[in-house]
Amino acid sequence: MVAFPTETVYGLGADALNADAVRRIFEAKGRPGDNPLIVHISALDQLGPLISVEPSPMARALMDACWPGPMTLIFPKSDAVPMAVTAGLDTVAVRFPAHPAARALIDAASRPIAAPSANRSGRPSPTTARHVLEDMDGRVPMILDGGPCEVGLESTVIDMTGDVPRILRPGGVTPETIERVCGGVRVDDAVMRPLKEGERPRSPGMKYRHYAPRGELTIVQGGAEAVVSKISDLYDNALAAGNSPLILALEGHLPAYGGRRALSLGRDAAGMAHALFNALRDADALGADALFSEAVPADGVGLAVMNRLGRAAAFNVVDA
Ligand code: TXA
Ligand code: MG
Repeated sequence: MVAFPTETVYGLGADALNADAVRRIFEAKGRPGDNPLIVHISALDQLGPLISVEPSPMARALMDACWPGPMTLIFPKSDAVPMAVTAGLDTVAVRFPAHPAARALIDAASRPIAAPSANRSGRPSPTTARHVLEDMDGRVPMILDGGPCEVGLESTVIDMTGDVPRILRPGGVTPETIERVCGGVRVDDAVMRPLKEGERPRSPGMKYRHYAPRGELTIVQGGAEAVVSKISDLYDNALAAGNSPLILALEGHLPAYGGRRALSLGRDAAGMAHALFNALRDADALGADALFSEAVPADGVGLAVMNRLGRAAAFNVVDA
């Protein structure tokens, strides 16, 4: 078992074809046994043995356009993939990451590597080796440090078992790109709302409580000026009520918040993807108990940002 960088987030990897090795990943993370792992490959010819059908022309086109990269495709699984990896499902999620260290690791192992994000279950995905150490010290024998992850949010998970690619988890590969490559795309409707009581999502990962900061998080959306003014009011009220508030804002808006305590989320949606998980960890470290975050439009990589931010806030969004 080894933690390693990818361009999305750090993963916690082990031999994907060895059920015992895979079980140790679940133990180290404290991961529920019914939440399947992604299998990582470093060459296209590693895909065939993992799946039980020929990839469709659409899947081929997506692989050509977006692999190696931040994209995970779901196919019917072959018998070579242990049930421990897929948590009993008859499908397997496969990703070909672009990060050179991830590829070198898979090459060196000369077998596919099963890896979830390298956080303790319920914590934000790690985007630096330090984050992995914070969560996993004493639980994993080795962490490969590849510096901060470029994308900063987990890969786009796309179910390829139906007629049209269906996004189960948005990420660095956007719906716009998939639409352009495949001529169609569906975003699963559970992506931008809380799950209903007893609902069985298509991706088991949707059902688990995602990371939420210790402080109550409110997302404020609207025009830039209105958002700054609304967040400033909310912050001042929280402070007056004896709370310890914190603002999460786009870099360019920071001066407008004056002396209020604020963390930068970068310059745009891509910057926010890169900065978000680190900012949420920092917010806890600072002991903030009332968090107010700016929003970005939910298109392009902004869909992934608003999905993660939305879940962290239990979809508590207000209009400025
Ligand atoms: O960017 C990433 O995807 C990172 C890096 C390490 O590759 N990995 C990652 O893994 O985020 P994890 O385990 O934290 O998230 C995998 C998600 C989970 O929500 C899981 O439920 C879903 O993919 N998943 C895995 N196999 C699936 C399957 N056969 N059907 C539906 N969803 C699946
Ligand atoms: Mg995860």
